[in-house]
Amino acid sequence: MKWSEPYESKYLRVDPQKRRFQISRKVYTDPQLFELEKKHLLRKSWLYFAHVSEVPKLNDFITRQVIDVTLILTRDRAGEIRAFFNTCPHRGAVICREPVGSRKSFTCPYHGWTFKNSGELQTQNAAFGYEEDFNADGNYNLHEVPRLEIRSGFIFVNFDAGAMPLSDYLGAAGDRIDMLAQHSGTGLEVIGGMQEYYIKANYKLMCENSYDGYHLEATHGSYIDYQMSRLAGVTQMKATGFGRGLDNGHACFEIDIMAGRPLAQWLPVWGETVRELIDEAKAELIERVGPERGHLISQVHRNMVIFPNSVMNDQQSIFIRSMIPISVNEMVVRAWPLGPVNEAPELRRIRIEGALSFLGPGGFATPDDVEMLELCQRGYEMGGIEWNDVSKGFSPGEETPSGEDKLMNELQMRAYWTQYDKIMSAIA
Ligand code: FES
Ligand SMILES: [Fe+2]
Repeated sequence: MKWSEPYESKYLRVDPQKRRFQISRKVYTDPQLFELEKKHLLRKSWLYFAHVSEVPKLNDFITRQVIDVTLILTRDRAGEIRAFFNTCPHRGAVICREPVGSRKSFTCPYHGWTFKNSGELQTQNAAFGYEEDFNADGNYNLHEVPRLEIRSGFIFVNFDAGAMPLSDYLGAAGDRIDMLAQHSGTGLEVIGGMQEYYIKANYKLMCENSYDGYHLEATHGSYIDYQMSRLAGVTQMKATGFGRGLDNGHACFEIDIMAGRPLAQWLPVWGETVRELIDEAKAELIERVGPERGHLISQVHRNMVIFPNSVMNDQQSIFIRSMIPISVNEMVVRAWPLGPVNEAPELRRIRIEGALSFLGPGGFATPDDVEMLELCQRGYEMGGIEWNDVSKGFSPGEETPSGEDKLMNELQMRAYWTQYDKIMSAIA
């Protein structure tokens, strides 16, 4: 969309000549709109669900909520990764109540029907009274999520059978997901399980926050002070970089900054042994992907939002987040740090420290951000003010959701909201 003329919808108010781009606060507060959004936007989008390393072996499974649905993700007896609605096709009971495990089959606790981990109904408890070919059409198998696709080990699901292929949906974000996977020649794995926390705010606020370069100094002053003292004499924390729209509402910021990463930015505070390990890791990466891509993978801090509710951060560590909307003003955040399989213990320690000290639920960033999101939500719920503003850096002729702008500007949010408006304004 090229912004030349004034535009107004239920959700956006844009005046390119005045360089204004505004968002209706109803998108964070209106319960009816939230229901429409679930139906027309969330249930038709590709949603990040899990990483393949969470079901590493045959018969492994996890159960997990996505939007308001719980799915069982299995690596079945044949090694196929599948996701099923966690509800019994008989009379509806939730079948699996464990979050993680290993099983060849699942037995419904209510009347005892048993299903293979590939979904087929295996046995009905006390099966008399049913026709022999009762399940000939497969109607009583576990119901599979309409679409599941995997990009570089990252599993996405979509509840819309007619949705476009994942790679089309991801657009320019897809290659950045590939770059995450290329951190390692041996694959990535989730480190230490899943983190989960509740925020009394609309889920979209966490998306906006995740690639918001503008708030860094004001909200995270204490972290910047900490890093400055740690990095004294080595580098400076001034964040310079770009915000980028990446098609279909996805966007990121990318910062070339020396703040230390296990792949592959050494800091003197880590000592000489670690320096050797980091040099080796960097050499291996460049050998594998070449110097240019190696730089993009190992030196550029990247926070990326996959529209509409997933975040992929690539900083001191790799951190994936998925926002589960509970109601119009509540969300649960699920977060997973990832690292290379068989990483040297010294590098793994640095990775975990990097993951927890900033983006972890008790780190420098997250509690401050949570506070800001809840303050925003409270602000909206006071009522009386109709519009939010994301005009910073906006000028006539800007194209969203592609384009590029300075880090501290708000192009990323305009990319998100342009896509949101496109989908929601098309509902009859
Ligand atoms: S509800 Fe599952 S067997 Fe009856
Ligand atoms: Fe933040």
